[in-house]
Amino acid sequence: MAFLGALGLAATEVVALVAPFIRINRIEGLGNPVTVGTRAQLLETFATTNDRPILFREGRFFLLHAPGGIIAAYRKCTHLGCAVPWNDAEDRFHCPCHGSQYDKRTAVVLRIPAPKPLQLFHIAANAEGQLVVDTNPLRVIDRTGGEWDPRVIEIVDS
Ligand code: FES
Repeated sequence: MAFLGALGLAATEVVALVAPFIRINRIEGLGNPVTVGTRAQLLETFATTNDRPILFREGRFFLLHAPGGIIAAYRKCTHLGCAVPWNDAEDRFHCPCHGSQYDKRTAVVLRIPAPKPLQLFHIAANAEGQLVVDTNPLRVIDRTGGEWDPRVIEIVDS
């Protein structure tokens, strides 16, 4: 009986330790729709920053001004999954783990070992004209080719 009591206490402690992290993941983590502004607002931002990628840290993606439209690149390196940062000095994405590099506007691979471009999240406009990024990693656009393919654009420039 004492054993069962101790077991129950241990289980309660484990749940108490883990529960806060589960809650944080649900609130801040990947998978939620993220509203990022209107197309016009985003294009204006790109126009004034030389198309610098815009990071949405909690959704783990960058908005990019691709040739012809706006795309959302999941910042998970396609090599071994490190979070890929933007590098202003190099004007490209540069993974700190093993040196993969990705293009500023398309996120295609500029330098291996990454085997393919960064995956893309779907973007859609809601009834108010706000763009909403779907950060569900099960619904990514997975690009296997090495070249930029404009057919992935869902939000065109005009
Ligand atoms: S995880 Fe990015 S280069 Fe290896």
